[in-house]
Amino acid sequence: MRTLEWKDGVAITIDQTKLPTRTILLNMKGCGDVASAIKEMKIRGAPLIGVAAAFGLALTAYHSKTLRREQLMKELETSAQILRKTRPTAVNLFWAINRVLTKAKETTGDKKEVTEAVINEAKRMANEDIEVNHKMGEHGSSLVENGDVILTHCNAGGLATVGYGTALGVIFASWEQGKKIRVIATETRPQLQGARLTAYELKRENIPVTLITDNMVGFVMAKKQVNLVIVGADRIVKDAVINKIGTYSIAVLAKAHDIPFYVAAPISTMDLSHTSSEVIIEEREPKEVTHFRSRRIAPKNIEVMNPAFDITPTKYISGIITEIGVLSPEDLNHIKFERYKHY
Ligand code: MRU
Repeated sequence: MRTLEWKDGVAITIDQTKLPTRTILLNMKGCGDVASAIKEMKIRGAPLIGVAAAFGLALTAYHSKTLRREQLMKELETSAQILRKTRPTAVNLFWAINRVLTKAKETTGDKKEVTEAVINEAKRMANEDIEVNHKMGEHGSSLVENGDVILTHCNAGGLATVGYGTALGVIFASWEQGKKIRVIATETRPQLQGARLTAYELKRENIPVTLITDNMVGFVMAKKQVNLVIVGADRIVKDAVINKIGTYSIAVLAKAHDIPFYVAAPISTMDLSHTSSEVIIEEREPKEVTHFRSRRIAPKNIEVMNPAFDITPTKYISGIITEIGVLSPEDLNHIKFERYKHY
């Protein structure tokens, strides 16, 4: 399953809001289509929104009517501004936009050459994403033993990336090695990425999966029904991992029950020049909480909080699974990650 394809000036993806009941393909013909898809969460997951933004810039270049390189650079900058405003938390979005703009600036030649360079860079990023996920799977699977029951939160699978996934990539790799594992997936209120997407991906591969609501995690841990947690990340800063709302509670519970808690994320998710207090946590519309699939479940005019992500301090994290190996949280302080960032 590949979530992004480029075909003659159209970027094709799956509308994730329709899964698992319907598989609807979305043809994106301009940067505006990509920006709306990210905002409306038709495309979601940190690595995927990054590569999708790169494709958004590729669409701008491909469809540009200008013959002048300088004008194309201006159009790319305008598109970048639109894409940067879609979602604030996952750093992959900003990383990907900067990488493509840097490529465009560094490319000598006329408009045609810059256009080709931008499109090729976006395609390269899509391919790299899948490669990196397989490497993460290889490294992470060394932590998984036959018989393990792994709890995961939200969706850090093939659908959150261009393919294979980060946390689910580790689970897929362990399963491909013949390990008899089981997965507990949390439903992940309010957008239900666990129930709709993680359960769907695991079932497709025939991996045993049990779905629970988010508030059952303490119960299953106390009953010793889980012995490992692996989640993804939207941004890793010096002192914490930022991931889907609910991750922090799971990490605290895992610590209280002596269950290892791992984060699987590529180097492109690292933002080590910042700390958690500097990160903007996306606040989404109240309707996601007051309504369940467009049916009202709360009184009118109720005050609502709806942060999409939370912050897990590194003291709760046993290790970070990356494409260069399994790191300890202390490694975040001394490894020079920039040299692995491919630009
Ligand atoms: O709001 P979403 O669905 O984009 O949030 C996704 C997550 O929080 C994932 O865990 C994270 O992006 C890692 S995906 C490999």
